[in-house]
Amino acid sequence: MSQGLVTTAYIVAAILFILSLAGLSQQQTAKKGCYTGMAGMAIALVATVFSQDAHGLGWVIIAMLIGAIIGIQRAKKVEMTQMPELIAMLHSFVGLAAVLVGFNSYIYPMDIDADMQSIHLVEVFIGIFIGAVTFTGSLVAWAKLNGKMSGKPLQLPNKHLLNITALVVSFLLLLWFVGAGGSIFALLLMTLIALAFGYHLVASIGGADMPVVISMLNSYSGWAAAAAGFMLGNDLLIVTGALVGSSGAILSYIMCRAMNRQFLSVISGGFGGGVKPSSTHTQPQGQVAEITPAQVAETLKQAESVIITPGYGMAVAHAQNAVADIAAKLRAQGVKVRFAIHPVAGRLPGHMNVLLAEARVPYDIVLEMDEINDDFKHTDVVLVIGANDTVNPSAANDPASPIAGMPVLHVWEAKEVIVFKRSMQAGYAGVDNPLFFMDNVRMCFGDAKNTLEAVDKDL
Ligand code: TAP
Repeated sequence: MSQGLVTTAYIVAAILFILSLAGLSQQQTAKKGCYTGMAGMAIALVATVFSQDAHGLGWVIIAMLIGAIIGIQRAKKVEMTQMPELIAMLHSFVGLAAVLVGFNSYIYPMDIDADMQSIHLVEVFIGIFIGAVTFTGSLVAWAKLNGKMSGKPLQLPNKHLLNITALVVSFLLLLWFVGAGGSIFALLLMTLIALAFGYHLVASIGGADMPVVISMLNSYSGWAAAAAGFMLGNDLLIVTGALVGSSGAILSYIMCRAMNRQFLSVISGGFGGGVKPSSTHTQPQGQVAEITPAQVAETLKQAESVIITPGYGMAVAHAQNAVADIAAKLRAQGVKVRFAIHPVAGRLPGHMNVLLAEARVPYDIVLEMDEINDDFKHTDVVLVIGANDTVNPSAANDPASPIAGMPVLHVWEAKEVIVFKRSMQAGYAGVDNPLFFMDNVRMCFGDAKNTLEAVDKDL
């Protein structure tokens, strides 16, 4: 394929990626956004693999086939609730790829002018640094999300000093590396430091801040890809990496704002650091009132307004269809039904929106937290379905709580609240929830799909 054609294909692919991001910003156009992105990636792959610069086509095709088979198998099996783990794992691949490209580019440098040599060495060094941090950071995030590692923050003494030392030493190694015209010792030492730094950075972050970490690693993986693009002299990789890097950074910022966190404090492990094991907390006191599915149906029949707040438990139980049926039945009887979505409900951004859309809940009754939080006090019944941290009043009322300051859905302000969950277990952040003991709250224990199907039948 001629160079001109490759450049044209890259421009088309870059435009498709931008259109894809635009499509993904709204639920109604998200599917189209996915297809646009896939088309862009297909064009980019074909143009790269068949460009004049590419060699060893046979090897590339074998590698792509193996990758495609593993990827399709994984994607078919993965549950919606395991998506963040999968994303974390994929980010680690991007990081590892940037490290490998960096070493490859160091061992077999491209034909570049002597005066560009130093710039190339800086690219190699920074590319490997970002890649190594992304690699181990993402592996720790993956292990934390699937429970292979505890969600509690690692508390090494002087952890901020350790992070700063790692950065300063890496910078000094960069000066040495470039000054010496490419010292392998400096490069290897920095790689080890960056691997340890990535591990420490994510291991020190507490459970409640993990959503921000995932989007932050998303951003890092973009910058790692952009760095690889510089090393390979591939413009499209630079553009794509910059798109992923900046959109990940914007998402991290939005999530920090939604959770009332300072971005810098999250990445330096400042929040979540106060998380103590739940057993050392002052346990919420009081009686827990239970309710049966038949009584829930009776309560709903009397209600004029209902708000449903779904959480991770709805996803685990696959209860979204039963929830959608209940909402449709109530609406048919003239009840005002709306859904309240917390920005970090579930385990990935937009998790609840996707499930509700799948169950054909109309978009116009699905509202974001800020749009509906003031309405709870005028609502007859709130159904909390497998949500816990996102409806925890201690975030609003208890300054000592590890999630203090995080905006939550004010469900307790409604006349009646019914919580669907299996036990009194804490949610993802491991924080006790005083909601369950409040006077206007009743618990409907059991797997959310079973209990909600029973409510649906009784309606
Ligand atoms: P959580 O606080 O995680 O609580 C989920 C609740 O669902 C649990 O208390 C659990 O109680 C219940 N549950 C689990 N399986 C169930 C089943 N089969 N049937 C009924 N209930 C079930 O959920 P949330 O309110 O959605 O909050 C999300 C949390 O995840 C936040 O802390 C957030 O920071 C974190 N997080 C979010 C993201 C993103 S980006 N959204 C990413 C990573 C982490 P039982 O065990 O008693 O049933």
